[in-house]
Amino acid sequence: MKISVIGAGYVGLTTAACLAQIGHHVFCSDCDVLKLNKLQNGKIPIFEPNLQEIVVRQGRAGRLLFGSTAEAINHAEVIFICVGTPPLPNGDADLSSIEEVAQVIAKQARGYRLVIEKSTVPVQTGGQLRKHLSVHGATTLELDVASNPEFLREGSAVDDFLHPDRIVIGVDSKRAADMLMEIYEPIVKGTFQCPLHSVCERAGTPQLLITDTNSAELIKHASNSFLAMKISFINMVSNLCEVVGADVTKVAEGMGLDPRIGPAFLNPGIGFGGFCFPKDVQAFIRIAEKSGCNFSLLREVEKINQSRITHFVDTIREELWTIRGKKLAVWGLAFKPNTDDVRFAPSIALIRMLMDEGAVIRAYDPQATEKARELLPMIKYSANPYEAAEGADAILIVTEWAAFGALDWGRLLSLVARPLLIDGRNMFDAEKVTSQGFHYVSIGRSRKGPATKTIANDFQKPDRLVSALSDPTA
Ligand code: UGA
Repeated sequence: MKISVIGAGYVGLTTAACLAQIGHHVFCSDCDVLKLNKLQNGKIPIFEPNLQEIVVRQGRAGRLLFGSTAEAINHAEVIFICVGTPPLPNGDADLSSIEEVAQVIAKQARGYRLVIEKSTVPVQTGGQLRKHLSVHGATTLELDVASNPEFLREGSAVDDFLHPDRIVIGVDSKRAADMLMEIYEPIVKGTFQCPLHSVCERAGTPQLLITDTNSAELIKHASNSFLAMKISFINMVSNLCEVVGADVTKVAEGMGLDPRIGPAFLNPGIGFGGFCFPKDVQAFIRIAEKSGCNFSLLREVEKINQSRITHFVDTIREELWTIRGKKLAVWGLAFKPNTDDVRFAPSIALIRMLMDEGAVIRAYDPQATEKARELLPMIKYSANPYEAAEGADAILIVTEWAAFGALDWGRLLSLVARPLLIDGRNMFDAEKVTSQGFHYVSIGRSRKGPATKTIANDFQKPDRLVSALSDPTA
């Protein structure tokens, strides 16, 4: 099918590239001309595993083109809207980019168009979009508006697109439903050539859910808010574990064995970040509020999340006594591993708070340094974790990059001023770290060692940890 994708951010670019990968002819547009130039030269502006390769390959095959929004609207009957919906100061989602796109579609389109919202939007946006398209001149235009929310995690977005757990289609007409089913048929039937080969996390075919647009829009916000709630829940349990001397890893493991609960998203830490959970929880609260529902549960989720950084700083202070003048190695800046995204990353708020208390920061991240530098130009960045640790009074693990699991402990011990590892993501087994000569402090676990024997005597495999963190089916 011929398909257009408007917006070439994380979601748009992944959608465009993967739709081309499964055999469609895709035209992707963006209002950022510099970004478009890069993309036309086969360079992607973000770090997202496997995406660059697909963009280049599909570009060469002539199935993926980049250009202006006007060209995109002329290219196809099917238009995916993947533009940003950032938070406004009051927590509402800013839908102005969607409105702008609607205006261009209304003016430009000739003939039938299926306009699909993929960006995360408040419930009833589909209805507004339809109204707006008519108001701006498309009264004579044959038109369908559909919602097809994305469930792409940064760091595994390609895998999530090509091997989803579920595909949600919110439609108000059979024509739109049929077209969307045709678009996703290669994924539903598993008939496309998967470029990831053996590294795919999931196998099997996805569940296809067809519903109305309002319900589809709600599914997205409700899912992200629920996952955020799970994280805040386990973070509060971890606080309790610290006080009573229990091990949150074991508590989460025990809870997760109940299939009604499941083990995913029960990893405690310094809180959820990124461009999805914080803004989506906020927006969902506002949507409920405007509809007369007081979703105070989600206010608590937010509040708990905001308190994670302060809690971590308190832990650091307890270990160091005072923070002023202390050299701290911050390992990890991205809001999660396998991405270079630092938007709403806990690292940013943490570093600012530590600097306010007079700490001297040296940070390292395998991918996110350049993006973090734009937000935090005043700190020093290192080329590797060892350089960051030189002369440090403590090493702080802020993002659980798998590479941090493969350390030369002897080298590290010789570099630090004080062998103190404070782990905000519970990457390691306490016994192993302490046996290497480090004092180990983690989240919701005893500071001298685990309360009960852990599954492995060696390090918990970071890869396993990362996939458990990010795979809702794990
Ligand atoms: C999230 C959802 O998982 C996707 O399904 C959704 O499509 C996406 O938002 C979106 O709305 O576009 P993402 O933000 O990429 O994906 O990352 P997650 O893997 O969900 O992690 C979010 C944050 O929660 C990270 O800061 C992570 O460190 C934290 N987290 C996650 C925890 O603190 N504990 C956990 O157990 C899991």
